Amino acid sequence: MRILVAYATRHGQTEKVARRVAAELGQEGHTAELCDLDSAGKDVELPFYRAVIVAAPIHAGGYPPSVVSFLRREHARLNELPSAFLSVGLAVASKTSDGRAQTLPLVEKLCARTGFRPAHVELVAGALKYSQYGFLLRYVMRRIAAHEGGDTDTSRDYEYTDWAALTEFTRAFVTRSSAALAARAPAA
Ligand SMILES: Cc1cc2nc3c(=O)[nH]c(=O)nc-3n(C[C@H](O)[C@H](O)[C@H](O)COP(=O)(O)O)c2cc1C
Repeated sequence: MRILVAYATRHGQTEKVARRVAAELGQEGHTAELCDLDSAGKDVELPFYRAVIVAAPIHAGGYPPSVVSFLRREHARLNELPSAFLSVGLAVASKTSDGRAQTLPLVEKLCARTGFRPAHVELVAGALKYSQYGFLLRYVMRRIAAHEGGDTDTSRDYEYTDWAALTEFTRAFVTRSSAALAARAPAA
């Protein structure tokens, strides 16, 4: 299967997630092509792909404009393909509140705004990259982290992504997508 893995990133974690998914799809014998929606979103040729994964980070309760415009523009074709949406954020790693319950409405809002109906939604824990934040953002993120029972030593970065769960997601995506495509194929 030729599979598109489209993503946007601000601090690099969603790109890392997208690259890992693409590498694992490759190991499973598929051709996975990465697309950074901030630089090449307009060049995507969806008819070439049999399935698509879109990965996007949450920043301040929303997803990047490049992701929103890509989904708005392409939702009709995307909805015809086996698909998944990977939402990368920190709320899902919270130790003090229900991060899934906080995050799912953001995904629903994105889908309502764009018309995208992913066949599967995966909530992925991202990273706290204090080293990449300026003084003010570091202060704000540290306060949020403290409130959520997270890590507050700003002298280092923290990665919460569960790579084993991502591998499971990727394998299940291949199985689901192959089954969906087989079900659509005309009987011989
Ligand atoms: C300014 C800022 C705002 C953020 N807002 C949210 C948020 O509203 N909800 C959430 O779950 N995570 C939030 N995060 C966490 C990011 O989603 C997380 O750090 C993710 O790994 C970022 O992905 P990226 O490195 O691809 O940009 C925020 C992070 C930053 C720096």
